[in-house]
Amino acid sequence: MPALWVVMPAAGRGTRFGAALPKQYLPAGGRPLIAWTLEALYAHPAVAGVVVALSPGDPDWPGWDEYAGRPLLTCAGGATRAASVLAGLEALPESVRADDFVLVHDAARPNLSLHDLSQLIERGGADPVGAILAAPVRDTLKRAGDDGGIDATEPRERLWRAFTPQMFRRLQLSRALAAAAGQGVEVTDEAMAMERLGLRPLLIEGAEDNFKITTPADLARFEFELERKQRERGTSGE
Ligand code: CTP
Ligand code: MG
Repeated sequence: MPALWVVMPAAGRGTRFGAALPKQYLPAGGRPLIAWTLEALYAHPAVAGVVVALSPGDPDWPGWDEYAGRPLLTCAGGATRAASVLAGLEALPESVRADDFVLVHDAARPNLSLHDLSQLIERGGADPVGAILAAPVRDTLKRAGDDGGIDATEPRERLWRAFTPQMFRRLQLSRALAAAAGQGVEVTDEAMAMERLGLRPLLIEGAEDNFKITTPADLARFEFELERKQRERGTSGE
């Protein structure tokens, strides 16, 4: 199994969450949220290390430099998520070759399962371009008019919600993100940057509960998930 590095954008401020602390540092189950996200990644034996992109001078970063004997590096992120990912790609060790696959995963997405991560690594690694975890849209989609009324119902067939991790080749992803930035386009995920180059990443269906923490309700949901997993461990006799 090839060694894989991860870039983790964690330089956001959590404006929509509205807490004093950026959401990646909010406590959940006695640890900062980002600790759970890191744990979910290092749980996979192919993960060689992680580069975390932090806001410059981040006072809340706990200063970790390894996890389970594997390296944990940091770099300064940028003003947008895409700029933070690009900075993280540049901070990868030299041992990561231009055509090696790398993973990108949001610090704010702590509930990634080992099963989904394995699926992405196995199936994405067999695709020439790479792949993303995603889930089909299940709700009925409405297009709103200016007055707040419904103008139309949009067909949801073939529509997917993009999650992270996303897996692409190091150099190709750097070039794709730099090209979008150079054209003044703010891409909201890595796949979008690749698509703009005419490439077609593979969609891999993942669990709905690989959700991103955006609001306090999401954090409550994650804490509920943590307690549920703890209960399951408690009753399985492990
Ligand atoms: N992120 C980043 N650099 C930025 C903006 C965001 O590294 N300039 C990271 C966030 O820390 C998060 C991930 O990208 O882990 C997804 O972004 P999002 O959920 O939007 O987080 P925030 O930008 O912190 O939240 P908000 O948009 O509500 O301010
Ligand atoms: Mg944001």
